[in-house]
Amino acid sequence: MAFVEFRDVRKTYRMGEVEVAAVDGMTFDIEEGELVVVVGPSGAGKTTLLNMLGGMDSCTSGTIVLDGREVSSFDARELTYYRRYDIGFVFQFYNLVQNLTALENVELASQICKDPLDAADVLRQVGLGHRLDNFPAQLSGGEQQRVAIARALAKNPKLLLCDEPTGALDYQTGKAILKLLQDTSRVMGRTVVLITHNQAFTAIADRVIHVREGRAAGVEVNERPVSAETIEW
Ligand SMILES: Nc1ncnc2c1ncn2[C@@H]1O[C@H](COP(=O)(O)OP(=O)(O)O)[C@@H](O)[C@H]1O
Ligand SMILES: [Mg+2]
Repeated sequence: MAFVEFRDVRKTYRMGEVEVAAVDGMTFDIEEGELVVVVGPSGAGKTTLLNMLGGMDSCTSGTIVLDGREVSSFDARELTYYRRYDIGFVFQFYNLVQNLTALENVELASQICKDPLDAADVLRQVGLGHRLDNFPAQLSGGEQQRVAIARALAKNPKLLLCDEPTGALDYQTGKAILKLLQDTSRVMGRTVVLITHNQAFTAIADRVIHVREGRAAGVEVNERPVSAETIEW
């Protein structure tokens, strides 16, 4: 059994009389420790699949398994614990609390967890050891995204889920964040799922899931992923 299993997963939204299938029978596996890039055009269903994997949205049918547990059969209470203990999220916008320092932002998240990592240690790991006492407004966009990544990692999650994490960043900063996410998988051994519309990012992945019209149109295992520093777009 794979670490993550998606089996014929569907998500339909009712818009008045019409049903929209945002995810339309999606099947794939993810192995523990992989950096997975989910790539596809806007509207393909990427965010919907990530939200279901992260327990923020339920599926209409199909099966989602993480680490041997069937997430797709969880009730609301189990989903709350699942989001809290098992999943770290990183979004395009950093969603930091503006009147808390970098360290306090990370501590805030780790306080609700069972087995958190030390907040200052994690901030050092993401390259922000010198920024612990700065407020978000005193940090660059890239630094704020590093705080958001540290906040997610300090929860010690089973999965780090990132939805277009470089979408608001300039080219060089975006690359540095990709490198950090790649190291999060390679060096720290985390399982990282990264959503993007940018085909160039696929070169850094251990596994690439191509999403088209709500389906996994192709899954490739990349035998020789390249370092994030070397890709161009
Ligand atoms: N809450 C919702 N209600 C209705 N339709 C939705 C909702 N969320 C997403 N969709 C539709 O589902 C499709 C997939 O959306 P999404 O998963 O956001 O795609 P992506 O992240 O790949 O751009 C789109 O057609 C979108 O309009
Ligand atoms: Mg999206």
